[in-house]
Amino acid sequence: MLPNQQNLQNTMLDANQLSSLQHTIGSYSPLQLAWASGYLAAKSEVATSNVSASVVSIPAATLTILFGSQTGNAKGVAKALAAQAQAQGLTVDLKSMSDFKPKSIKNITHLLIVASTNGEGEAPDDAIALHEFLASKKAPKLESLHYSVLALGDTSYEFFCQTGKDFDESLSKLGAKQMSPRVDCDVDYDADAKTWSDSIINKAKALLGSESTASNVVAMPTAGAVTEYTKQAPYAAELSLSQKITGRDSAKDVRHIEIDLAESGITYQAGDALGVWFENDTRLVTELITVLNLSADEQIEVAGESLTLAQALTSTLEITQTAVNFISFWAEQSQDKNLLALSEDKNLAREYAGNHQIVDVVKSAPANVTAQDFADALRKITPRLYSIASSQAEVEEEVHLTVGLVEYNENDQLRSGGASSFLGKRLEEGGTVKVFIEHNDNFRLPANTDTPVIMIGPGTGVAPFRAFMQEREATQASGDNWLFFGDQTFTQDFLYQTEWQAYLKSGLLTNIDLAFSRDQATKIYVQDRLREKASEIFAWLERGAHLYICGDMSRMAKDVELALVDIISEHGKLSTEQAQDYLKELRNAKRFQKDVY
Ligand SMILES: Cc1cc2nc3c(=O)[nH]c(=O)nc-3n(C[C@H](O)[C@H](O)[C@H](O)COP(=O)(O)OP(=O)(O)OC[C@H]3O[C@@H](n4cnc5c(N)ncnc54)[C@H](O)[C@@H]3O)c2cc1C
Ligand SMILES: Cc1cc2nc3c(=O)[nH]c(=O)nc-3n(C[C@H](O)[C@H](O)[C@H](O)COP(=O)(O)O)c2cc1C
Repeated sequence: MLPNQQNLQNTMLDANQLSSLQHTIGSYSPLQLAWASGYLAAKSEVATSNVSASVVSIPAATLTILFGSQTGNAKGVAKALAAQAQAQGLTVDLKSMSDFKPKSIKNITHLLIVASTNGEGEAPDDAIALHEFLASKKAPKLESLHYSVLALGDTSYEFFCQTGKDFDESLSKLGAKQMSPRVDCDVDYDADAKTWSDSIINKAKALLGSESTASNVVAMPTAGAVTEYTKQAPYAAELSLSQKITGRDSAKDVRHIEIDLAESGITYQAGDALGVWFENDTRLVTELITVLNLSADEQIEVAGESLTLAQALTSTLEITQTAVNFISFWAEQSQDKNLLALSEDKNLAREYAGNHQIVDVVKSAPANVTAQDFADALRKITPRLYSIASSQAEVEEEVHLTVGLVEYNENDQLRSGGASSFLGKRLEEGGTVKVFIEHNDNFRLPANTDTPVIMIGPGTGVAPFRAFMQEREATQASGDNWLFFGDQTFTQDFLYQTEWQAYLKSGLLTNIDLAFSRDQATKIYVQDRLREKASEIFAWLERGAHLYICGDMSRMAKDVELALVDIISEHGKLSTEQAQDYLKELRNAKRFQKDVY
């Protein structure tokens, strides 16, 4: 709905500005209006954060909240924390760590850090500078700083909550005083984050209360564009297309998914991800309940809500991913020797959990358990993220994804990933899927459209580059575009082949280099193609190219980075260490960006 004269009367605009604004937005569609509101919010964010950084010095009694977040969770917790603290009369300065000058930490007296961990125990992109600074010799003594850390992570990773732990350790070493001990949260972090937030606000009030007043509010920028739908309040969208895009004889089943955002007003940018909520497969739920010898209709409680066991296992609880803690729980229940031995060794337990879904753990070692105890031992379902494979400039109210189905056999039984099989197999076209946008400012096309880009995206890692190309075409970007794509075979696995060929023909795609690992006796991967084109890649980097990697984190991204270091070292005539610094500089300058999982 357009704002009318009446409700614009109390604005800060004069009559001419008001009339000009109304004239401008009068012809906008709902989607254009939503986009424009996000644009203006982002503009105002820059303006207000500039104000708070340069003009307003931080009042002494300010509670500073800094977040380091890769996929939005820590940002969401920090924003809620800031709102809660402000509502209770505290003066709050909320910032992404990337908008915070590390050296200015010495001016702060009360600091709350909410930080996730990314990669393999690495800091999220926006936290890298502060994380490095605090651990370096340049960091100042911080004896007058009071702080607390909320760490988000996932127990299935070896370096659980490492970034939060690092911040805690660095601050403590620098002499800062803990307001309360760090809390480490697993993927279902809501309850722990809420408990920490409630308690830390009370502590902050006790420390700051006398100096702080509700009217004394430092501008609190809202990070990211404004959309009504969030992880907690997703949009119920319609699945409009689910199409297999790998060949009949492919070892993989990859789906091109189209979702209709209709009149939601949701906007996104190339580089963003879509969060997808899903329901578990009812056949898997039935199998699990049968193995447990429990009744589907038994009433249990999950987070204060009364549900039948079947409902809880279908819609609320995670049963396709196994948390490490569940291995210990089930070892206790079953007293199974193997599981008991596993639960003694965190690394082995983590590996076992990563290869066995809940139902297979339960099948391996029978035990009697109540429905409530079993439910209490499971984590809550968390939505999965998918890199968006479309640009709204091209597809308007749609969002496209490239989803690889997780499928494998366990004792001759097909096991599937929760979200990928929901999207690719169980949800009929026309069915409903709850989604939200996860903005990712750490994976963006260069603002200058003349800048060349090198995109390395094998397998489903190609998804955001399809979005990038649609965007570059829509904006008539003149910068060169180079894609490195790879998979198993040319005939079965060349995702979006005809689109790349059309882009090559039109000239939008300057180069494409392909690595199909199984099309010849020796395996060839994208990193091998990079090495073959080493001098040209270095020349592109030297003329300002932005570099992107998307896809598999555990092997591909590492091998590609090793290849890049070698390329830079050889053609830049640098030592390995200098070449690593060169790549680091690119990363700091946002010219090297990764979206790996
Ligand atoms: C920022 C980001 C972007 C992403 N973009 C994409 C994208 O564009 N496309 C895409 O396809 N994915 C993408 N992903 C990955 C995606 O989010 C999901 O992790 C993926 O689809 C698997 O989720 P799932 O629910 O299907 O499987 P889950 O239910 O999470 O996992 C299934 C479980 O099965 C078990 N398992 C799996 N394989 C085996 C095996 N071979 N043997 C034994 N056990 C096994 C494991 O226990 C595993 O935890 C992205 C992730 C992130 C973080
Ligand atoms: C690619 C990837 C790597 C991750 N690596 C780790 C890790 O090494 N240690 C850990 O505890 N959690 C790890 N996590 C889990 C995240 O920290 C966790 O999901 C967190 O809630 C994300 O918060 P954010 O959205 O603010 O980044 C990883 C998650 C992803 C997607």
